[in-house]
Amino acid sequence: MSRAIAMIGGTGPLGMGLALRLTRAGEAVLIGSRDAARAQEAAETIQKRAGSGAQISGLENSAAVAATDLLALTVPFEGAAALLKQLKPAFRPGSILIDATVPLAAGVGGRASRTLGIWQGSAAQQTAELVPKDVSVVAAFQNVSAEVLNGDDDVDCDVIVCSDDPNATQAAIALAAKIPRIRAIDGGKLENARIVEQITALLIGLNIRHKGHGGVRITGLPDSAYKSA
Ligand SMILES: NC(=O)c1ccc[n+]([C@@H]2O[C@H](COP(=O)([O-])OP(=O)(O)OC[C@H]3O[C@@H](n4cnc5c(N)ncnc54)[C@H](OP(=O)(O)O)[C@@H]3O)[C@@H](O)[C@H]2O)c1
Repeated sequence: MSRAIAMIGGTGPLGMGLALRLTRAGEAVLIGSRDAARAQEAAETIQKRAGSGAQISGLENSAAVAATDLLALTVPFEGAAALLKQLKPAFRPGSILIDATVPLAAGVGGRASRTLGIWQGSAAQQTAELVPKDVSVVAAFQNVSAEVLNGDDDVDCDVIVCSDDPNATQAAIALAAKIPRIRAIDGGKLENARIVEQITALLIGLNIRHKGHGGVRITGLPDSAYKSA
């Protein structure tokens, strides 16, 4: 088994979609859930779609976090802080946590095309405050549509990766670039996540208005800026 990536809250559309695409790309994935049985059920669903060679299993969230040092956070923003506090003792030292959460106002009864103000600046920066100091947080995948990930078409979207730890940036870039047609781009420091998260709210508004599944493409950078399969 290659270094597995664990999806914390991986039973939702984003976690399932990323798990599907990454297992198809040959990555080992652990689906995490608050409920081990739900995690196993989700893993079986992905196994059926990705094929018998898919390396996927389901675990309760804390067991998934303890099982690997590469993690993705795919829970609703409004549930993230309490969950991270609960999971804090389970993190392996030196883990990399890819945060895909977006602080949508829908989580507190507002519109999905609006975001909440976060004291730290972004959901990812809040996450960085909540995990152990030796865990590196990297923001990525916030602009990728789960509906597209779970569908059969290629993912027509760039993934902007932001972190204060260059190793975490490289790990997330390498992972995102495994998904066909995704281009991963180093987006600089973690504080830039606040801009990337806002783009998701804009995309949701565009998708409602135009009835689509829009993504972002950054043009005009040198070829070396784009990492893809
Ligand atoms: N959907 C998209 O297209 C998309 C795209 C980019 C980014 N995002 C962001 O990615 C995150 C996940 O999106 P999603 O649509 O997959 O979310 P979701 O379906 O609402 O939630 C994902 C999973 O999180 C767990 N969860 C739900 N509420 C929780 C709580 N209060 N505490 C702990 N765990 C909880 C659930 O798993 P268990 O019940 O099994 O524990 C659920 O299946 C969100 O922050 C979203 O903004 C979504």
